[in-house]
Amino acid sequence: ETPRPAMIPIRGVPMIKYFAENWGEVEGFQAQPDDLLISTYPKSGTTWISEIIDMIYNDGDTEKCKRDAIYMRVPFLEFAVPGIPTGVELLRRGHAQRRLVKTHLPVQLLPESFWEQDCQMIYVARNPKDVAVSYYYFYQMAKVHPEPGPWQHFLADFMAGAVSFGSWYQHVRGWWEKRREQRLLYLFYEDMKEDPRREIRKVLAFLGRPPAEGLVEAVARHTAFAAMEQNRMANYSTLPRSVMDHSVSPFMRKGVTGDWKNQFTVAQNERFDADYERQMEGTDLSFRMEI
Ligand code: PPS
Repeated sequence: ETPRPAMIPIRGVPMIKYFAENWGEVEGFQAQPDDLLISTYPKSGTTWISEIIDMIYNDGDTEKCKRDAIYMRVPFLEFAVPGIPTGVELLRRGHAQRRLVKTHLPVQLLPESFWEQDCQMIYVARNPKDVAVSYYYFYQMAKVHPEPGPWQHFLADFMAGAVSFGSWYQHVRGWWEKRREQRLLYLFYEDMKEDPRREIRKVLAFLGRPPAEGLVEAVARHTAFAAMEQNRMANYSTLPRSVMDHSVSPFMRKGVTGDWKNQFTVAQNERFDADYERQMEGTDLSFRMEI
């Protein structure tokens, strides 16, 4: 196996080495007014909301949504790995209008053109304990990341913002503030688990589309965890093993809330809660750690 590359900071935010080396292309990216930005901290429900929106864009036609893998239908803006087309290349080559764009960038790193073009944006946030656990398994299976080390160390890195895309706390807070001035819908993974149809209707309203019950039903069915887990065009199984090794941990791992209880020790949980209070001080943004 090739050694795993160390991260490189971009304006203080730790970035996967290959992504950082391609940063110039990302910074200069030209957004178009019809682009819809799907923004998340990693492991927060990106693939889920992406599939939901592609279904909406295709009027609930599941066959059309199987036309290609999710990372082709919704290119990942800052993605760059040698030998694979970059996110920016895919976006340039795609349809001229109404592109779906995935990003994990914190607000301060988003290319200026998205603000200039006043693009619509959908952000999904997930409670940090489940994110940390999901990220830990993802670090192991997605080889562009450094070795995560033991859980205890990874959790400390996560709390310190010393992981790819930086601090979860700053990420969710930064995007939460942006929703005041931007055309931004801010969703929560826990709400999507609790009542997917309600959240799908929120997305439809945000996009200015009627909440046709047949469509809501089709989207909910096609994007249920069990359906996406089996869908090769949604579950990332078509990527080379050198990029993601699903035998280490599947991309569609569990898809539940509260799995952190299987991973955190009581002491880790207490430390996390105390640190959470400190890092989330002064915001009206709050998370449900279980539903
Ligand atoms: S990435 O790599 O950052 O884009 O990953 P992302 O898609 O944001 O997050 C992956 C986690 O989301 C879970 N997932 C889902 N949960 C519920 N329903 C659906 N349809 C769904 N699709 C993906 C996936 O299982 C990862 O969470 P964990 O906790 O690891 O299972």
